[in-house]
Amino acid sequence: MKQNTAPIIIGCDHAAVGLKDIIKAYLVDTAGLDVKDVGTFSADSVDYPDYAIQVARAVSEGTYERGILICGTGIGMSMAANRFPHVRAALCNDLFSAKLSRQHNNANILVMGGRVIGDVLANEILKAWLETPFEGGRHQLRLDKFDQVC
Ligand code: RB5
Repeated sequence: MKQNTAPIIIGCDHAAVGLKDIIKAYLVDTAGLDVKDVGTFSADSVDYPDYAIQVARAVSEGTYERGILICGTGIGMSMAANRFPHVRAALCNDLFSAKLSRQHNNANILVMGGRVIGDVLANEILKAWLETPFEGGRHQLRLDKFDQVC
């Protein structure tokens, strides 16, 4: 499978700074991707919507094709990101969801819960999500219905 090589935008809150650094290292050092990191950069408490909004807006407006968001559970980041038009943020804390989020949902933002999964699983999820293509066809027809809402 061909790996997506477009630049990627990533953000997290204080609950997932360590995992973000691991994910970023894979993206840059192993996958050779350009990464825009909007933070946060320390364990000081922050509000996850501030990071979800930056990443989701960039993907919504087409500045970046894909994004990654990580918080404690991934739930808050998903909720915030999916308020933006054309954003399909998928909370994937398992491999099956990661693959299907690409094949069926053409997810353009991967969300993970840094307090839910371990670093090794997170990297496997990331790899699967980057490498799995969208199947199109009937799945595109279903996604088109999203645009009837926003
Ligand atoms: C932060 O404590 C936590 O609420 C956040 O990381 C996330 O899990 C929210 O959905």
